[in-house]
Order: sequence, then structure tokens, then C-alpha cells
Amino acid sequence: MSKLTIIEIPDPRLKVKAEPVERVDESVVRLMEDMLETMYAAPGIGLAAPQVGVSRRVIVADIAPEGAPRAPLRMANPEVLWASGEIQVSNEGCLSVPEQYADVERPRRIRVRYLDHRNETREMEAANMLATVILHEMDHLDGVLFVDRISKLKRDIVLRRLFKARRTKQPSAL
Ligand code: NI
Repeated sequence: MSKLTIIEIPDPRLKVKAEPVERVDESVVRLMEDMLETMYAAPGIGLAAPQVGVSRRVIVADIAPEGAPRAPLRMANPEVLWASGEIQVSNEGCLSVPEQYADVERPRRIRVRYLDHRNETREMEAANMLATVILHEMDHLDGVLFVDRISKLKRDIVLRRLFKARRTKQPSAL
């Protein structure tokens, strides 16, 4: 496995709609494993292929708390089959929008169909934090970031904070 580079806003590759995988073959499994390693190292709880510059419909996630056994999820071509009318608000962040957080509204429960790492079609239900993470990562596959799901006013605040933090960190960067 190898760690990949996570791209950050405003990289235009984050705005591109990703292509489905034809089947989960060895190269897709390797991508999933590399994405998991990259996500754990970050550390993060979810990662989508476009965030490592790969325009394919692949996501990984693991919401197991620190210290608990790992519970990695690997999904190719995920689709939402059903979403609850009930909404929840979560304070979301994103490895491509480092150290910035905002409240985002999403369905509390979802049913998702996807291809697993053995190229088998699976369905699962997810609720609460797992539903949020899966929906957040699926958004990346359509070129959507969590900052696209908040008001323009809040987005401007988040982005201004991000660019200001970058300037402070890299005083010599022009
Ligand atoms: Ni993200």
C-alpha cells in the first residue's frame, strides 16, 4: 500500500464529476487500499478518489472510534436508493478543506447500493454519522464539497479563514 497526496481547494479536480468503475479489479482494490492508508494517516474518517486526484467513483470510510478495531468501508459506484425525510445537522470538515468546519444538513438515514472490494453488489443502511460521511464522500464524486452546501455568507467566511490560515503557515509563499 502507498500513501497518496490529498489535493485541496481550490484545485479544479475537486469540481469534476467522477467516472464509474467498470468493475472492481485489482487496480481498483489497490486504489481502495491506498485511499484507506491515506485516510488513516491524515487522519480522517472518509475519503473519495477525486481527493487523491483520481476521477473514479470510489470512496472509503471508517468511523470506528480511536482505539477500537478498524471497520473500513470500501465502495465503488455508490448510489443512494432511499433517503429519509428526516434531516440531521452535522459539523462537517474535509481533508480537502483543511481545518475548516461548518454545519451541514443531510438526511439522517440512507440506503445505499455499491460494489464492494470483491466486485459484489451490496446494499446497506446507514444512519447518523455514517450516513453523513457516506453522503459527504458521495458528493465528492459529483464535484461537490461541503462548503457548496452552506450559505454563500458562511462559505465566504470558511474560505477566507482557510486562505488566511495558509498565509500564516507559509509566510514566504506567494
Ligand atoms: Ni471531504
